[in-house]
Amino acid sequence: MPNLSEYAVLMKEEWNRRLELDADFWMAEWPESPEAWTASGERDFHALVCEEMREKGAGVRVLEYGCGTGRLTQVAARYFGLVRGVDISDTAISNARSRLSSFTNVSLSTCDGTTLSGEASASYDLIFSYAVLNHLNSTVLASVLGEMVRVLEVGGRLSLHLYVGDYPKLPDSSDTHTVRGYSSDQLKEVFRKLGCAVPSLTPCSLPFDGDFEKCLKPTIVETSKVQSGTSYAPEELGVILEGNRDISPDSYIECNVLYDRFNRLVKQGETIRAVETARFLLTRETRMSHLVTIKHAIALLEQAHEYPVRK
Ligand SMILES: C[S@@+](CC[C@H](N)C(=O)[O-])C[C@H]1O[C@@H](n2cnc3c(N)ncnc32)[C@H](O)[C@@H]1O
Repeated sequence: MPNLSEYAVLMKEEWNRRLELDADFWMAEWPESPEAWTASGERDFHALVCEEMREKGAGVRVLEYGCGTGRLTQVAARYFGLVRGVDISDTAISNARSRLSSFTNVSLSTCDGTTLSGEASASYDLIFSYAVLNHLNSTVLASVLGEMVRVLEVGGRLSLHLYVGDYPKLPDSSDTHTVRGYSSDQLKEVFRKLGCAVPSLTPCSLPFDGDFEKCLKPTIVETSKVQSGTSYAPEELGVILEGNRDISPDSYIECNVLYDRFNRLVKQGETIRAVETARFLLTRETRMSHLVTIKHAIALLEQAHEYPVRK
């Protein structure tokens, strides 16, 4: 099992590689046009951040955790005075910087993926995060939640997209992509220990659903900081989140996503991107029969399209 700093290195490397392959695709939505990208950010931001918070406007200090290429950040910037977006991936941040260069009230930085060490305590009124926390192993999630509460002002709000359910398995702790979900009791206990109000858990139905096994419900988790709580070691809260569930090394969600992407690209005649996607898949897939099929598909595409064969 990787420790926190080893897992942070792994997360950064893997998310950078995903985004270098295809930045838009690895966001929570892969819109086909700039207009669709803006519209999907608008929709998800509205689902995540309630009207009461949006109406508070310019004076609200906002942090987005895992801002990716800025899909929701750009919407938040229209409502609030100062919006800071952090993400573990340098590729995501440089992409977001060029997309959001016209916004003077947005600041963007990479973070280490387990803490908010660059942020002062009690310096935000709202922290939101969409399609990020579900990718973290339980110890990292516990660490990030603890840090979010630390940098939140008493009375400030957390609006987080998570998956809720009693699924008996968790992916291996070194997995940086497969969706993880927790029971409402586990989440309530963790937020209570961190000094937050009992969270409200609102199931949300959005076009993006990362739970391919359909056991977990995408949920908006909202809570507010009631008092400066005791600080806990991430491992201690991580144990609450893990409970007694089995750890399953057989998580093929990332492969399923890549197969889907590959098929779409082939259908669209985007051969070069299809071959790049299949090559990426080769670095993820472990099932021998699947590996043979992917190599065969790459060879066929390269032959049919006189694609330059990589040495
Ligand atoms: C599925 S994308 C979602 C991006 C964005 N929130 C959106 O909805 O468009 C997940 C993002 O989380 C980032 N991420 C993954 N693990 C992270 C971590 N431990 N800390 C911060 N960001 C992380 C990835 O780099 C990626 O940009």
